[in-house]
Amino acid sequence: MSATDQSGSTKSTADKSNLIERPLPPCNIVIFGATGDLTHRKLIPALFSIEAQGLLPDNLRIIGFARRDYSDVSFREELRQSLEQFAPDLWKESQDAWQRFAHRVVFHRSDFDNAQGFAWLKERLDKFDQTEGTAGNRLYYLATPPSTYDTVIHQLGEAGLAHRDGEKSNPFVRIIVEKPFGSDLTTARELNTKLKQVFDEDQIYRIDHYLGKETVQNIFVFRFANALFEPLWNCKYIDNIQITVAEQVGVESRAGYFDNAGELRDMVQSHALQVLALIAMEPPNALTANDIRNEKAKVLRALHPIKGDEVATNVIMGQYGAGQINGKDVPAYRDEPNVPPESVTDSFVALKMEIQNWRWSGVPIFLRAGKRMAQRLTEINIVYKDIPPILLKAMSRGNIEPNIITIRIQPNEGISMRLGAKPPGTQTRVEPVDMNFTYGTSFGQRIHDAYERLIMDALLGDASLFTRDDEVEAEWSFITPILEAWKANPPKDLPNYPAGSWGPEAADKMLADTGRKWINR
Ligand code: BG6
Repeated sequence: MSATDQSGSTKSTADKSNLIERPLPPCNIVIFGATGDLTHRKLIPALFSIEAQGLLPDNLRIIGFARRDYSDVSFREELRQSLEQFAPDLWKESQDAWQRFAHRVVFHRSDFDNAQGFAWLKERLDKFDQTEGTAGNRLYYLATPPSTYDTVIHQLGEAGLAHRDGEKSNPFVRIIVEKPFGSDLTTARELNTKLKQVFDEDQIYRIDHYLGKETVQNIFVFRFANALFEPLWNCKYIDNIQITVAEQVGVESRAGYFDNAGELRDMVQSHALQVLALIAMEPPNALTANDIRNEKAKVLRALHPIKGDEVATNVIMGQYGAGQINGKDVPAYRDEPNVPPESVTDSFVALKMEIQNWRWSGVPIFLRAGKRMAQRLTEINIVYKDIPPILLKAMSRGNIEPNIITIRIQPNEGISMRLGAKPPGTQTRVEPVDMNFTYGTSFGQRIHDAYERLIMDALLGDASLFTRDDEVEAEWSFITPILEAWKANPPKDLPNYPAGSWGPEAADKMLADTGRKWINR
C-alpha cells in the first residue's frame, strides 16, 4: 500500500507492527564466547533491541558461556556498559527494558575443553526447562574464535546437548556458526564434516550477516516482485555487473585475525559472493529455505574458476599505504598495530568474473572490495548495453550513457535507475537523470540491524538467510585457487594504493582493457 505525503513523495503505509511473522518461541540461547567482542558489539545489542520491541517471550533465557571469572551480576553489568558504549541510541531510547533483559541473562563459567562444564550446562538447561518454561528448545551461538569450534561442537555432542528428543522441530536444537567458516576449501569441508558428525544439516545455521541486511533481502523482492526487470535481467540486455564493497575503516585492532585472512577471505568469500548469488540466481520454485538456497548454490557452482596464470589478469590484489580518510592522516597497513612490517596480506581485491550459464554467458562481473577506501559504500551497478548507434546516439556523437540500475546496500539505502532524458529547451539533447527510491523516505522506519533479523529467524527455524554446506563449499572452491596462486607468487609491489583512494590503478586498468570503467559517483 502506498500514499502520497504532502511533500509529494510516495510512502509505504505498510502495517508497522508487522515486524515478525509469528511470536518467538521459548528458548535457552547459549552464547559461546560470551565475553568476546562479537557478543558485546553485535549479539547483545541485537537481543536487547528485540527485547525493547517487546518481541522476546517471557520464557527465554540467555546463558553466556565463557572461560573468564564472572558472576551473573558482574556479567550483566559488563553487558550494560557495552550497550551504552556500542549501541548508545538504542540504550538511550530503551533503558526501561534493561531490568527485564538483565533478568534473562546468566553466566556459565567453563573452559571449552572441560567436559564437566558441558555436563553442568546440560543440567542447567534442563532445569530452566522445568522452572523457566524454556520448553527444551536450544539455540547455541558459536561466537568464539574459529580455532575452538571443533572443541565446542565435540563437547556439545558428548554432553548430549545436540540431541533432539521429539520430532525434528519440537523441541528444537539449533546452532549458529559465525564466520569465518574455514580458511580454504579443505578447512571448510573439515568444519562441515565435524558439524555433521554432531548435528543434522537442518540444525546448522551458518551466518553471513549481509543476508540479514534489509537491502540485501530486497534484491530478491526487487527482482521477483516486479514484472519490469526480469525480462531484461540477462546477457541479452546487460553489458556488465559491478559490485563494490568499500569500507573506510582499516584493520583497526583486528590484525591478529585479518592479517591471516585478508580481504578476499574476509569480504569476498562470504558477503560479496552471497550478494552476487542473489543478483544472478534463477527464480526459485518456492519460498522455502532450500528452494532459495538451491538456486544460489547453482550460481556459485557456475562461477568460472580463476586459476594459475588467469589469476594475474583477472584478480588485482592491493594493500593500502599511508593516506588520508576524511581529511585525516592514516597509517599504511604495514604500520598498523600488530601487522608484520613485511605483510603481503590483501586489504583490497578486484576480480573480473564470469558466470557460465545460459542467462549470464559473456557478461563480465567486476567485483571490488577494500578497506581504507575513498568512501564507505556497498552497491551493485547493473549496467545495460548501449542503444544502437543511430538516431539520438548518432546525433550526440555516441555520448549517451547506458541505463544503470544501482542497488545501494549501504549507506543511503535504496535503488536508483539512470535514464536518458531531454533537458528543457529547443534542442533535442539527452542527459542522464536518476530515478530514486530510498528506504528513509519511502518507509520512514528504522532499518533493523542484520543480527536482530538473523537471530529472530534462527529462533523461528527459518534458514533462508543462512548459508548451506554446498554454498559455502562452492564459494571456497572459487576462492581457494586464487589464494594458492598468490601464495605461489606473492606480490612485490605492495603497498599499491593510498588509503582514501579507490584502490590500485591496476584495478582501473582491468576494466579499461575491456573498454569499461568503474562507476564511482
Ligand atoms: C565483517 C568483516 O564480516 O564485515 C569485517 O569481518 C567488515 O572486516 C564487516 O568490516 C563489514 O560489515 P558491515 O555490516 O559494516 O558492512
